[in-house]
Amino acid sequence: MERWEGKVAVVTGASAGIGATTALALADHGMRVVGLARRQHKIQELNNAVKGRGTIRGLRCDLTNEEDILAAFRWIQNSFGGVDVLVNSAGFIGNKTVPASLLSGSSNEWRSVLDTNVVAVSICTREAVKSMRRRGDNGHIIHINSLAGHKVPFFPSTPLGIYPASKHAVTALTESLRIELMALKSRIKVTSISPGSVDTEMTRTFATNVLGIKDQLNGEQSYFKQLLPEDVSDAIVYALGTRPNVQVHELTIQPIGQRLCE
Ligand SMILES: NC(=O)c1ccc[n+]([C@@H]2O[C@H](COP(=O)([O-])OP(=O)(O)OC[C@H]3O[C@@H](n4cnc5c(N)ncnc54)[C@H](OP(=O)(O)O)[C@@H]3O)[C@@H](O)[C@H]2O)c1
Repeated sequence: MERWEGKVAVVTGASAGIGATTALALADHGMRVVGLARRQHKIQELNNAVKGRGTIRGLRCDLTNEEDILAAFRWIQNSFGGVDVLVNSAGFIGNKTVPASLLSGSSNEWRSVLDTNVVAVSICTREAVKSMRRRGDNGHIIHINSLAGHKVPFFPSTPLGIYPASKHAVTALTESLRIELMALKSRIKVTSISPGSVDTEMTRTFATNVLGIKDQLNGEQSYFKQLLPEDVSDAIVYALGTRPNVQVHELTIQPIGQRLCE
């Protein structure tokens, strides 16, 4: 990770869960992190917890609004000189963290899922790649995908609605981006990281509101076996730490004892 010390990482969804843990891990490795989310104060608070030489700066950004995203990247260009690493972590499953149903969800709710999980990922990636190309073409784009981006999980009592479609799009975006970058003979790396269930706000609210489970998500008797956000940020640090000739294409991560897409 030495080569990233002092470099600039943009982490979307840095106010919670995987994004927050990733922002901290990258700052602990000496990166200057800019986190994008609507709850800017939560990102700012993370800066007090940085143990390494890096920093975390929060920017308020609604990723469903293209102007917000473009303004954020302009600010990063002016204040930090550009972007070296982009981690697309922000994600949305549906209102009240209940998956947006294909039969009863509203069209606006579907659009919010697709705007956050697909369109915003593409806009942030386009803006970051422009900046990385100007800065020597050595960047790294990491999409936080999902096992649901490879296979639709079978949860008959709580179907995941439009969410798996949005994550399948991320799988396709990862490969299409790689092909476009190859055509440019770019050295920018692209990695998709696909976790199973992770203990974050998203799954806690889902477990409480939908499944009626309140405590001990990770207990021995728990229905849910979960990863920790740190398990995902460890994978991000691993992918970033590979030598310049190595590109981690896809990492799927699940807790021990779980079948694929269980
Ligand atoms: N948790 C899991 O089990 C799991 C499993 C596989 C994949 N994933 C993926 O991992 C990623 C992170 O999920 P998580 O579990 O860490 O979720 P989380 O704890 O619910 O955090 C979601 C993050 O996304 C941000 N966000 C959502 N909508 C936004 C918007 N319109 N504008 C700006 N920021 C927005 C939230 O920030 P604000 O609310 O402050 O705006 C928050 O920081 C997602 O892409 C998710 O699909 C999660």
